[in-house]
Amino acid sequence: MVWHKTNPVPKFRKAGFLNSCEMIVCMWNKGHTWNFGKQSDMHNFFESSICMGPERLDNPKHPTQKPVKLLKHLIKIASKEGDIVLDPFMGVGSTGVAALKMNRRFIGIEIERDYFEAAKKRLQQSQNTLFDNTPVLPSNPTLCYSENK
Ligand SMILES: C[S@@+](CC[C@H](N)C(=O)[O-])C[C@H]1O[C@@H](n2cnc3c(N)ncnc32)[C@H](O)[C@@H]1O
Repeated sequence: MVWHKTNPVPKFRKAGFLNSCEMIVCMWNKGHTWNFGKQSDMHNFFESSICMGPERLDNPKHPTQKPVKLLKHLIKIASKEGDIVLDPFMGVGSTGVAALKMNRRFIGIEIERDYFEAAKKRLQQSQNTLFDNTPVLPSNPTLCYSENK
């Protein structure tokens, strides 16, 4: 798939294209879930701004934090409620936030301590918002810090 960023990083010299597209590699097997609704869900193209505004973390600032909207779109198409979503390069946890919002379970791994801690906090907040502070959660995320030696 192609993710078209509507607000890519500008280039002041008008020589060459902006990096406004990012490729998303999709692989599946025979038993894979396809939750397509309308034909427009089947476009291999997604358009949104890069992660910005209140969604974008300041501290730590992750250089490639993805918008939750994009991840929700992919998770919705490719999984069912209760499925496990694995992000072995979770950064600040955007995939996890999207997975919990879509009522999926989540396993995330991150090598950088600051990003890992930020993801943990974000997922905790996200769960509290989702489930209205109810202590018993249907899907506690599993998070692993893979130490960078
Ligand atoms: C493209 S970023 C992911 C950004 C994430 N989708 C988000 O929205 O925050 C990739 C992440 O993988 C982490 N990473 C790189 N090598 C890793 C490894 N061997 N194990 C775990 N995490 C790793 C990097 O620290 C980085 O945060």
